[in-house]
Amino acid sequence: MKVWAAGDIDAAGDTKTLLVDPKDLVTPLARERARELGIDIVTAGATPTPPAVTTPTRAAVTTASPVAVPGTPKPVPREAAGGPVRSMRPPSGALYRRGAPLPSAITSSGRGGAGRVVVIGAGHVGMITALRLADADLFDEVVLVDIDEGRAAGVALDLTHTAALGGFATRVRGTGSVEDAGPADYVVITAGRARQPGMSRSDLVSTNAAIVGDLAGRVAAVSPHAVIVVVTNPLDEMTHHAWQASGFPPERVVGMAGVLDTARFQALASLAGGGRADRIDAVALGSHGEEMVIPLSQATSSGRPLTELIDKTTLEAVVDRARGSGAEVVGLLKSGSAFMAPGTSAAGMVLAMARDRGQIMPAAVLADGSYGIRDVYIGLPARLGRGGVREIVELDLRPDELRALRQAADRIKERLSQLAAVS
Ligand code: 2OP
Repeated sequence: MKVWAAGDIDAAGDTKTLLVDPKDLVTPLARERARELGIDIVTAGATPTPPAVTTPTRAAVTTASPVAVPGTPKPVPREAAGGPVRSMRPPSGALYRRGAPLPSAITSSGRGGAGRVVVIGAGHVGMITALRLADADLFDEVVLVDIDEGRAAGVALDLTHTAALGGFATRVRGTGSVEDAGPADYVVITAGRARQPGMSRSDLVSTNAAIVGDLAGRVAAVSPHAVIVVVTNPLDEMTHHAWQASGFPPERVVGMAGVLDTARFQALASLAGGGRADRIDAVALGSHGEEMVIPLSQATSSGRPLTELIDKTTLEAVVDRARGSGAEVVGLLKSGSAFMAPGTSAAGMVLAMARDRGQIMPAAVLADGSYGIRDVYIGLPARLGRGGVREIVELDLRPDELRALRQAADRIKERLSQLAAVS
């Protein structure tokens, strides 16, 4: 297998058509360079692809309607939110180009074509993440990495066997190291110890900090332009730790929790009479744990406030159950923790980024002053793009909701200082 980088495209000179082997990997930057130079990349043996579709403009893609966050975010007065709506970085097209995958429509691989995703940890969460990613038929390759190399390879082969059933052409590979997985556009870190019954997420902190810190450093060396999605618990602290260990800019390190917690709330509110889960708009913010904040001011079902459909006591019970859902599943399973919803959520974030439609999703991001919070990873609504977080979006929260969010930030900061003290 050859990896075609942008330099190889330059070296191709005046060629109009570059023939690559089906096993080769063409990096996103190489594809973009080929497009700039008018070179067609053709996979040997593949049916010729129709002419490339015009790349949508940034304005066009960012106006795609967001999902998962209710209503249209309203501007919040500077004083009310403790700061203006701000982007984590200026929207520079150039920043999104380095190492970021292109939407499949403009690639010429004839398969999904959005690059490579590495999923670290071939346990249950990693397995479901890989399954959802492969099923989406968007990426060239999904690589599972596990210290138990046989497990990674076995799960990858098993998943490969579903290609015709699932209707995907994404290659799936399993290996024992980040280095062997090769450079990636997205890296999902699920590795770490899972919670056992009676164990809080924070009990996991020192063990998992060592694992996540080591992995983030190695990912940065192998995939310097990747976006890292952290799934390992305790989520907010591990995401912060991975950001520091990777040396990446904050927009390229995000944590998966808000999508999962929101989905749980949607499912439980549906069971409580709130209508179909997928018509419930809500958002789970704050920490992935005790300080989870689900602002009911933002919760609607088919556009109607949930508070009109479900009585206050029941709705509060639904919020509490969503907050405790991870532990509830752990208690039922007796060994291991939830994986269907966590894996689906992690894959959903990666797909949203790769599709680059400007979708807004709750994610653990480095707070930048929005909501009056800064310098800590916490669950906030974030507009995602192929280069990671484009901006933090401010919702018009009620004062009590905003207060709870700020308290969550304080608690995460306290736990981070304890983590710094032990490591
Ligand atoms: C959960 O909430 C594992 O943190 C994950 O289930």
